[in-house]
Amino acid sequence: MWNKHQVVEHIIGKQREQAKAKGKAFAPSNIALCKYWGKRDAELNLPVTSSLSVSLHHLGTVTEIMRATEKDHIVLNGIELDEHEPFAKRLITFLDLYRPHPEFKFKVNTSNNIPTAAGLASSASGFAAMVLALDDFFAWNLSLQDLSILARMGSGSAARSLMNGFVLWQAGSRSDGMDSFAKSLDIEWPEFRIGVLTLSDLEKSKSSRQAMTETINTSILYKSWPAQVSRDLDRLLTAIQNKDIQLCGETAEQNALSMHATMIASWPPTLYWLAETVSTLNRVWEMRKQGIPVYITMDAGPNVKLIFEKNISTKIQNVFKCEIIAPFASFSNLNFHKRER
Ligand code: DP6
Repeated sequence: MWNKHQVVEHIIGKQREQAKAKGKAFAPSNIALCKYWGKRDAELNLPVTSSLSVSLHHLGTVTEIMRATEKDHIVLNGIELDEHEPFAKRLITFLDLYRPHPEFKFKVNTSNNIPTAAGLASSASGFAAMVLALDDFFAWNLSLQDLSILARMGSGSAARSLMNGFVLWQAGSRSDGMDSFAKSLDIEWPEFRIGVLTLSDLEKSKSSRQAMTETINTSILYKSWPAQVSRDLDRLLTAIQNKDIQLCGETAEQNALSMHATMIASWPPTLYWLAETVSTLNRVWEMRKQGIPVYITMDAGPNVKLIFEKNISTKIQNVFKCEIIAPFASFSNLNFHKRER
């Protein structure tokens, strides 16, 4: 079993000379259609199962990294954080893995255009952008596979936030995690849409990390989760290949609700849903009864994402106040898509 330092040593070796005055990168947020829920190794964030996501195009995180003197500075959305705040502590611990020497301090300037910690996977884009910015700063020129492994050690779902479009994170089986990284599916579905509804942007009461640990330790329902994932991944791969929105939407919705069922059945129980979450679910189910093919997915938070195709965008906008993302639209000037190789 390796620790994080050994993995970093293996991937970047001695390449720790500052190469530039500043490293900068963007990474998109992602929403899983088949969720990552449960770890086989908490040190390296190695998952119990594989997972599949779609990246949210321009919604994500931009991070700049510079050298600082005396102490680390973490600036989130323009505000400098106290180094004892949980978010700053988590980033500083992650940066410890990459310092050329202990006195080397960083200034990190990170901005999200999605609500932080409201279940919109900002830790995913946050750690992915951080790893890409470090790659730029130190001129490592790592492969996406290695960057995915490094991002995973910050937050599991960050392994999937380095690529655009549909992304599959293979769980892998090695204890050093060198076979646990994400890859683009390389399938375009131009009509595919995600509707992002922000029902609450309050910090969630329990981290997904804690809820995940409690679920795996106490929820008897969790025993069926690997079987659920295996069935759902097969179905989703078929659905994406055939651009079958019904199979894709139904599978993603059942997968998300099954994940929430495992955590509701854990002890202490975790229920991220608000009254607005439930009323949104009811409204979506009502629309489906009327023949409108719209489906939901949700991460560890109260917010709901809608899954549908372009042809019903107007109907969606008439009912929901949501931002509609076209995951396969072309990019104008975001640096990250140029990295796809
Ligand atoms: C519900 O990636 O935040 O969003 O690895 O502990 O940092 P850690 O967990 P995190 O968990 C995300 C869980 C999820 C599902 C998913 O994105 O697949």
